[in-house]
Amino acid sequence: MATNDLRRRLLIAIGAAALPVAAHALDSAEEVEVCMESEVETQCVKGLFLFECPDSSEIEEINRDDIGQTQTPAPGRGELINGECCYEVTVTGTCALGCGCAHGRPLLREAHPLLAGLSHASWIDEALPQPALADLTTAERGRLARFWASVGAHEHSSIAAFHRASLELLAHAAPEKLIAATQRAALDEARHARHAFTLASRFAGATIGPAALPLGGAMELANDLPALAARVVSEGCVEETMSLLAAERMLAGAQDPAVRLVLTKLVRDERRHVELAWKTVKWAIAAGGRPVSEAVAVAFAEARAPVPHDAEPLAPRLAAWGAVADEQLVAVAGHGLAVVIRPVASQLTA
Ligand SMILES: [Fe+2]
Ligand SMILES: [Fe+2]
Repeated sequence: MATNDLRRRLLIAIGAAALPVAAHALDSAEEVEVCMESEVETQCVKGLFLFECPDSSEIEEINRDDIGQTQTPAPGRGELINGECCYEVTVTGTCALGCGCAHGRPLLREAHPLLAGLSHASWIDEALPQPALADLTTAERGRLARFWASVGAHEHSSIAAFHRASLELLAHAAPEKLIAATQRAALDEARHARHAFTLASRFAGATIGPAALPLGGAMELANDLPALAARVVSEGCVEETMSLLAAERMLAGAQDPAVRLVLTKLVRDERRHVELAWKTVKWAIAAGGRPVSEAVAVAFAEARAPVPHDAEPLAPRLAAWGAVADEQLVAVAGHGLAVVIRPVASQLTA
């Protein structure tokens, strides 16, 4: 869908009568950090530990490498806490799943998408046709597997984003239609994740799925309507609208029938999700008045064009299998922020 068409659809979705103002200039100078290159975390291991912990090199659980991640424990004995031995572990490669342009509506925590790592969990959809692999080198298959695993991780995170949104809508007496559509969207995201991980697995020749989503034991909910609306702006009206445009770019270049099937369904669903986000914000403004409208305006003002994040080269010919370089997806998303999101937002908050 051209950006003009999307802008028109969103204006209709929010009931704006006037056509949008001229596109806002893209401020490419403003950049945000997307994620850390490595993180130090404390990992605790259960066992028959009575008085002291073994050396970190002896604990298999904290020395294992996962797909896209390497774990390096600090040398020395761990600390015995409540019968568990706890070690400081440096996890590197957590950015392997990142990309400047998110896919779907990832759950944001402090403005960063919260993603699961990868595992060998099966999220395979056996009904999906096989992508054509014969023309691909082993290295190209690996690159496609990593690209689609990243898409899968973002779509997987989107499941949680919509579940949190559902609870927040319930807590603020939103109309049943919005709540039901939000719950259906969570199921759509589960299917998107399944399809992306299926493609990743088939390119890899091994089962690739998500590890646990690191929610930290609790999910913080917006405690008032302005906070709810601001979150829908950030996750839905901004991030998901930009990711829709990126997905359309991926579909435009895709030639492999299996990949086209996945992307065609994904784009169809994401268009619906994007409209839902804008309608939700419109409802929140109508329900909460000026405090909501002000929070929405601030959230839109804080929106930034994404910056490329995936440093691994990606050959242009892999676009036939849906894989488009991060710089190109980011450019599409940034353009969408300028010519779709900001103009429609100005109508919404007028
Ligand atoms: Fe999605
Ligand atoms: Fe979505």
